[in-house]
Amino acid sequence: MKRRSISIGLAAGLGCAAAFLFVLGRADLRGLANGLALTPPMGWNSWNKFGCEINENVVRETADVIIASGMREAGYRFIVIDDCWQVERDSRGDIVVDGKAFPSGMAALAEYVHSRGLKFGVYSDAGTMTCQGRPGSWGYEFQDARQYAEWGVDYLKYDWCNNGGQNSEAAYSRMHDALAVCGRPIVFSICEWGRTKPWLWARDIGNLWRTTGDIQDIWEGRKEWGGLGVVQIIDLQNGLETYAGPGHWNDPDMLEVGNGGMTETEYRSHFSFWCLLAAPLMAGNDLRTMSAATRDILTNAEVIAVDQDPLGKQGRKVRDDGDLEVWARPLTDGSRVVILFNRGTEETRIAVSWPEIAYTENLEAKVRDLWLHKDMGSFTGHYAAAVRGHGVVMVRITP
Ligand code: GLA
Repeated sequence: MKRRSISIGLAAGLGCAAAFLFVLGRADLRGLANGLALTPPMGWNSWNKFGCEINENVVRETADVIIASGMREAGYRFIVIDDCWQVERDSRGDIVVDGKAFPSGMAALAEYVHSRGLKFGVYSDAGTMTCQGRPGSWGYEFQDARQYAEWGVDYLKYDWCNNGGQNSEAAYSRMHDALAVCGRPIVFSICEWGRTKPWLWARDIGNLWRTTGDIQDIWEGRKEWGGLGVVQIIDLQNGLETYAGPGHWNDPDMLEVGNGGMTETEYRSHFSFWCLLAAPLMAGNDLRTMSAATRDILTNAEVIAVDQDPLGKQGRKVRDDGDLEVWARPLTDGSRVVILFNRGTEETRIAVSWPEIAYTENLEAKVRDLWLHKDMGSFTGHYAAAVRGHGVVMVRITP
């Protein structure tokens, strides 16, 4: 009797283990299991600067300049062609590339990008048409994913226009499943603008998901159709920090640094926040003509190291005094990165106290300013600095 119950117990146990393994197996097909984007993806995307005026020359020259400017060295890897590369489907349903803008075709372009030690990305849409009215992938998910793999695609941004009222989780799961069997590792970037709270369902489906509408090259403001200034986007990130981690990131949209609509101070704040937020860093400017000031922002190694910290903990707001805010993020080595943020227009002194960043009051810690590239000394209990209007002071605090 006892024996029997042991064997029944064992069988039940094995059954559970099998079920567990099955669940793991399912999980294996999803999210983290593609093993990609263990730190937030970095690269360049054509949309913010070029819109539909994108062609293969721009892509090749951008690949060249990523190397020449030191951006590849700084970590930028993906070159992603956004909307407008596709024109129709042929009689077999295969997606047709715009032959005027991309006469060499996608496989040759991917090969060129790969030959520069970079990775290649494209864009499609979960609906019938992309946001610019080009063919979407609805109903063609597996065919398109196979095509991307044949071309050598490493990254897919997948939009949400003309979605026909589909369930978002189901629509993005379909492309996830297609990518999982296409034979090539492809980072999956979900772009449904935060409409159905993708942070609640996308962790096992995509490597990153947009949390808001489209970024605009402006400091503050909201467009009727959903475009947002940098400040509005920052505000919408607070509270989402628990959903991000290695392999699955909140995406507050691509960078506008260097596109001309903001001051250098504002661009530095924009970039600082994206790094504190563990955001994907997709440059969105014309790299071929960028100023030294823009390049210095995009390649600040100390700030990028915050974005790429392997712990992958997104920062959050720890104090809100109206126009004066303090944000913080813990890093792998136990240090904290702090942004002192002045939303107002006048230079103002802002302080962070140690208990706000989970350090004891009497702890002595070294402070390094990540934009001045300067050790500021050792401090006990708090640190304060003057912060210019629309600016940040970004420091790393190490006990
Ligand atoms: C949407 C996306 C943008 C961009 C455009 C392209 O608006 O959110 O990032 O891809 O479509 O049409």
